[in-house]
Amino acid sequence: MLRIEGTSIEQDCQRALKTIDLLLSECSKKLTQIYGRELIAEISCRMKTSESIVKKLKKKGYPITLDTAAKSLSDIAGVRIICCYQDDVYRIQKALYHVPELTILKEKDFIKRPKKSGYRSLHMITSVPIACASGIKNVRVEIQIRTVVMHLWAELEHEKCYKKQERKGDPIYRTLKLCAKLGCQLDTEMQNIRNTSSTAFNK
Ligand code: GTP
Ligand code: MG
Repeated sequence: MLRIEGTSIEQDCQRALKTIDLLLSECSKKLTQIYGRELIAEISCRMKTSESIVKKLKKKGYPITLDTAAKSLSDIAGVRIICCYQDDVYRIQKALYHVPELTILKEKDFIKRPKKSGYRSLHMITSVPIACASGIKNVRVEIQIRTVVMHLWAELEHEKCYKKQERKGDPIYRTLKLCAKLGCQLDTEMQNIRNTSSTAFNK
């Protein structure tokens, strides 16, 4: 069994997560200054488990080795950013492009094009430089940006249905799809209220 714990991959990813956490805290402060309110409600970091790495390598038909994992997987280190409003997702995305240390390698916008399941979030594959014995090394980190509503849906769907083939015919699957639609409407309504100036709203 392949284990990531105690390996240099784990060390590199942990360093990258620490670096990105600091960069995001700075970014968050700047956004708060610009918009006069906190855009980023929560930042959390996680490492992909050894089991999950093995599963993904198997699914892709790759050799189950640490070397292949490091080269082929871009989500061993992951960060999730949660905000309140849909427009804030894109404000945070834009701010990330202005962080000089961060390189954005790839983006998947599951808000503009939700997954078949109803899943919505903005995914970015980034590259973060870290210092190691041999000098500077670039480590890939997946960043997911989503609203509180998107997060609530994704957490429940993840627990109940995600990657559970046997659940595809279950009524819960259909109900979650409906909830995804309602979530999308709720995000839009909350955004509209947010955009309405309070005086106009009181009229
Ligand atoms: P993983 O093997 O899960 O890492 O997927 P992937 O990297 O091949 O694809 P993708 O970029 O589509 O998904 C990356 C991550 O987004 C997942 O690990 C989940 O955290 C989240 N995600 C993607 N699709 C869904 C979904 O349908 N439901 C939920 N709850 N989460 C999802
Ligand atoms: Mg992934």
